[in-house]
Amino acid sequence: MAFDSWALKRKNSSMSARILDGKAIANTLRMETAQGVEALFSRTGVRPQLAAVLVGDDAASQVYVRNKEIACEKAGIASRVIRLPVSTSLDDLLRLLDELNGDSSVHGILVQLPLPGHLDTQQVLDRISPRKDVDAFSPENVGLLSQGRARFYPCTPHGVLQLLDRCGIEIAGKEVVVVGRSEIVGKPLVSMCLQKAGPRGSGNANATVTCCHSQTSDIAAVTLRADILFVAIGKPQWLQGEMVKPGAVVVDIGINRLGDRLVGDVDFESVSQVASAITPVPGGVGPLTIAMLLHNTLHAAELTS
Ligand code: GUN
Repeated sequence: MAFDSWALKRKNSSMSARILDGKAIANTLRMETAQGVEALFSRTGVRPQLAAVLVGDDAASQVYVRNKEIACEKAGIASRVIRLPVSTSLDDLLRLLDELNGDSSVHGILVQLPLPGHLDTQQVLDRISPRKDVDAFSPENVGLLSQGRARFYPCTPHGVLQLLDRCGIEIAGKEVVVVGRSEIVGKPLVSMCLQKAGPRGSGNANATVTCCHSQTSDIAAVTLRADILFVAIGKPQWLQGEMVKPGAVVVDIGINRLGDRLVGDVDFESVSQVASAITPVPGGVGPLTIAMLLHNTLHAAELTS
């Protein structure tokens, strides 16, 4: 659509998007997990435990790990944070993961990313036992997800689909466009939307899915087709209103620092005039990732108890 006609449509429409409150849904999910933790404990005497490994002193990673620790505590999940110096060798890290894999009191293991450059991320992640891999990054868990028989759903894509379903938004039969093809978000989100059943049933899956990325020749032509548009590319305020079909649902999975503000991958101001619903940043998708990590840790404990 030419910019002029888009601007006219926008001017003539009084549309202002509904804000999808990720924080509120995340609180509900965390409460459900806390109840599940207590039920497991009273049935079996087992308290789920998450071990988080943090290598180096990346400031953002330290905040994320601290937030995960606090969230575990609130949900009644035991947590162990292992902080290692940036100079940690691959052998030492793999040895630690072997110990955690063999420790039956530890149900979930995560290695906070990014790792320092001298450590091979794939080799490290591959060492986590797939039954404790609460990020769902291991080849076995990626394969199970892809075959529609997931052991764990990856946290951010899972949180996003929970959010939509709990806000009454079905994706079945809809044109879903995912912008971004990362291993953590874009690819697993495509896989989940394609399945015949989602974490919340058939309405939470069965979409017609297109994935765009840095080599897509005309991204706006594709995003304009979307009924549901997910953006996860790590570029501040990248998606503009003129790239969105009026009435689309827009889910912003980016978190970027812009000066002293946090912004998403979506230009909230222009897109919220066109979309029917939108997630804010902060307070949209972010809180759901930790909520689903807690969910997966409980699930890992249930699998062995
Ligand atoms: N770094 C940024 N996001 C994530 C995540 O979801 N899991 C881990 N382990 N590290 C991350």
